[in-house]
Amino acid sequence: MVQRSSCIRNLVQSLWAASFPSKLPYCRGYTSQAASSLTVASQPSACSGDNEYADVDLDKLGFGLTPVDFMCIMRCSKEENFKEGRLTRFGNIEISPSAGVLNYGQGLYEGTKANRTASGRILLFRPEQNATRMKHGAERMCMPSPSIEQFVDAVKEIVFANKRWIPPPGKGSLYVRPLLLGSGPILGLAPAPEYTFLIYASPVHNYFKEGTAPLNLYIDENFVRASPGGAGGVKTITNYAPVLKAIARAKNRGFSDVLYLDALHRKYLKEVSSCNIFIVKGNLISTPAANGTILEGVTRKSIIETARDHGYQVEERPILVDELVDTDEVFCTGTAVGVAPVASITHQNRRIEFKSEGRLVSQELCSTLVGLQTGRIEDTKGWTVEVH
Ligand SMILES: Cc1ncc(COP(=O)(O)O)c(C=O)c1O
Repeated sequence: MVQRSSCIRNLVQSLWAASFPSKLPYCRGYTSQAASSLTVASQPSACSGDNEYADVDLDKLGFGLTPVDFMCIMRCSKEENFKEGRLTRFGNIEISPSAGVLNYGQGLYEGTKANRTASGRILLFRPEQNATRMKHGAERMCMPSPSIEQFVDAVKEIVFANKRWIPPPGKGSLYVRPLLLGSGPILGLAPAPEYTFLIYASPVHNYFKEGTAPLNLYIDENFVRASPGGAGGVKTITNYAPVLKAIARAKNRGFSDVLYLDALHRKYLKEVSSCNIFIVKGNLISTPAANGTILEGVTRKSIIETARDHGYQVEERPILVDELVDTDEVFCTGTAVGVAPVASITHQNRRIEFKSEGRLVSQELCSTLVGLQTGRIEDTKGWTVEVH
């Protein structure tokens, strides 16, 4: 998105200067490097004394949108690649009523998080994996995409520009939401003539209203999420609105979310609305194989590797719904969700319960993953990217 990240920092400074001319108090506690972007990281209202945090009610922080200071936008036409990005104040965007994304759903999204470490560093977790996934998705959806480097640079810049919104360690994360949209006007069904790559962010904490309590999932055989030959393997926006009804029905019945089965046989586990699923039996951890009908989560991939490091056997394979009755533990994984234990799955009016208290495999793996993400555990895998 940016050839040189300093360009965008200069832009941030001038933007800030234009918004809050001259009266900006200098916040104590910033390093000289941060001070060059200080204008981004502190608004007058939040910039008193040593307080470098935005005014967020951390106790009420769930997974809702809290608008932050800046977003970034990059545009290109069908024939060219993305070039220069622009950092702007967070706000509405203007779009043609006949934009490809509005009419035909030509759009992708991503999600990654920035965390503060106890020593005050800011870490991203494997953002290049999200960039790669967006690239594959863009190819499937006939869109140009930013390069891996442009994507990662833009994520770093947006995190730096909004860093006062990153909650303190243990209180949440800054969720970063990149979007790739067919924003140009098109009437006939065809790829849009112009594209927009946009990143916004929001401080978040727990995804489910249950907080960290184990989930109760519901298998609703009336709905499937993806079918062979479809686009279930990419993070297209068109995969999400169709599951809203299934989620609403499950929540009305008191469940946390929906676990989808395969479209063909309705007997193999696939994934949950916004996360992947794992089952545990003894030392064996299994997760549905990625064959284009589930989203290959960054967290899924990381948990598979972490579990093998911990001495577990891990298999990516077809998992029959009937296996659930003989399963010790079930857990879900995702950037927004984290690693969440599952207490029960209800299928055809039968509630199957799993171990969800005491020493859990999911807890052991979660602790390592979160340890890496928050700098508590030394990153020997090169999974974290520091923002400074
Ligand atoms: C359908 C679906 N499956 C799985 C995931 C988990 O992916 P990740 O771990 O990359 O967040 C997500 C979240 O992005 C999702 O929307």
